[in-house]
Amino acid sequence: MLDRTGRNITYMRISITSACNLRCRYCSPEDSSSGRDILTEDDIRRIAEAAVRLGVTHFRITGGEPLVSPILRDVIRTLKSIPGVSSVTLTTNGVMLEDRIPMLKESGIDGINVSLDTLDSKEFIELTGRDALESVLSGIRASVKAGIPTKINTVIRENTHAEALVSWASREGADIRFIEMMPIGYGRQYKNVSCDEIRETLERSFGEFTETFSDMAYENGPARYFRQENLAVRVGFISPIHGCFCSSCNRVRLTSDGILKPCLCYHSEINLKNMLDEGINDAELTKIIEDAILSKPEQHDFGSIGSITEKKNMVSIGG
Ligand code: 5AD
Ligand code: SF4
Repeated sequence: MLDRTGRNITYMRISITSACNLRCRYCSPEDSSSGRDILTEDDIRRIAEAAVRLGVTHFRITGGEPLVSPILRDVIRTLKSIPGVSSVTLTTNGVMLEDRIPMLKESGIDGINVSLDTLDSKEFIELTGRDALESVLSGIRASVKAGIPTKINTVIRENTHAEALVSWASREGADIRFIEMMPIGYGRQYKNVSCDEIRETLERSFGEFTETFSDMAYENGPARYFRQENLAVRVGFISPIHGCFCSSCNRVRLTSDGILKPCLCYHSEINLKNMLDEGINDAELTKIIEDAILSKPEQHDFGSIGSITEKKNMVSIGG
């Protein structure tokens, strides 16, 4: 459905757990041992069906780390079985990915994004708290090998080794996207480096980039993709801070505790989990989601920290 500003909301991100087997510094540096999984598979099915009635066609499953959730497989199957759903994708840290590729392939997953910020195992440990770089790299390889469209997500930090990451991604056949650090939760402590700076660095190494359009309908979101003849894969940039992309925002988010978030930047009190527990019917649920989409703010205000009302950490929002 269209929101007040004419944006077509076709995409819902669903965080199925706030538990994670890493402790990324910009996301969840403390051992929060959160993992209080609140949404059941049935809650997710009802919310998803209501969203589909309003025109959502694409779901992305996030976390925490969705591969640690016992309901992942059933959630993928449930979402895939809803008439009108065109794609169901997954965002993972990749640590447990290699062994789970057969299950994901069999469940019909349409794409996998793997977070990878560095190729240096020492830096990986500093950043994530765990010595797991090799497992992540094997996970990405296994996903590509299984023929699943696979993308790497790199959150930009001051010492991001973009050339090395792009060379590796190109060799392995996985598109790579650079994402500006958002001042949400622990991300606020970072100096923001822009996508433009990264692109300039990459162009100095690889030659000029040419913008290209995405061939995947569900990607018609904020990322801008580029090609370079020396590279086998696309390089994408997501610039929430230095390039406001809000006019092309096509999504809403469901947090792991069942809050529907019309915009990443702002606190939301739309607690679908409570409403489900209180016995809301499907028509009422659909109306609540419709009203939430109509309340979607025109744009975020990441430029001024004071206006960011979201206090949750990314680990329960799912990026
Ligand atoms: N800014 C940008 N991206 C973030 N992620 C987690 N925290 C932030 C942040 N503050 C990313 C993760 C992962 C995705 C789910 O969200 O690295 O790629
Ligand atoms: Fe876990 Fe992803 Fe957060 Fe890292 S960024 S702690 S992998 S949820």
